[in-house]
Amino acid sequence: MTITNGQSGTNVHEIADGIYRINTPVVIDGGGGFSFNQYLIVDDEPLLFHTGPRKMFPLVHEAVKTLLPAGRLRYIGFSHVEADECGSLNEWLAIAPQSVPVCGMVAAMVSISDLADRAPRALADGELLALGKHCVRWLDAPHLPHAWECGFLTEELTSTLLCGDLFTQGGSDLAPVTESDILGPSEAFRHQMDYFSHTKNARAMLEKLASTNPRTLACMHGSAWRGDGAKLLGALADALAA
Ligand SMILES: [Fe+2]
Ligand SMILES: [Fe+2]
Repeated sequence: MTITNGQSGTNVHEIADGIYRINTPVVIDGGGGFSFNQYLIVDDEPLLFHTGPRKMFPLVHEAVKTLLPAGRLRYIGFSHVEADECGSLNEWLAIAPQSVPVCGMVAAMVSISDLADRAPRALADGELLALGKHCVRWLDAPHLPHAWECGFLTEELTSTLLCGDLFTQGGSDLAPVTESDILGPSEAFRHQMDYFSHTKNARAMLEKLASTNPRTLACMHGSAWRGDGAKLLGALADALAA
């Protein structure tokens, strides 16, 4: 793990071959804290998955620059439209002239074709996007855990699921990657914050994600996780149904 900003504690850690977690901890007075992770896939056509909140742009930019010249970024992807997912999208488009937003069809139609300063590369459910050695596939997941336009990317070289807000864990100083249980902590957080949409289709979508057999889950909040991803996604489906 490399600290890229001493004041905020922003740090980078390679969680899978060529995939870097950029983590910014947020200490909350009297609370347990929180964290925001972005993931950078370093390749011929580098992809950043979620931008972080707009006000965090300087910290994420500083971290990206330790891994590659930020102007080389080709794709700025995200799961759904929220500040922590794409708040600094236009800042990234401005500093990386070859870059375009990457999102699902619904996000492109409803929001990004209007909000973004360049037209998005909209991916259909199951569509592949080659980055070089790495290759990502978009999977639609409407309302899982929230937002109509929600979806995820799975990276095929490393079997990494960029799982956004799934398995969100509270806390500001968690390990970059863990092999221990994250379902318990994320379920505790879900019961506290109620950020899932209660969609009836959760199990079918979790099964679709599980069918990619992820070995690493790149969570947006908390530790990334390594293990039998299909099994853990199944356990989440059971917990949501309980
Ligand atoms: Fe979200
Ligand atoms: Fe989030």
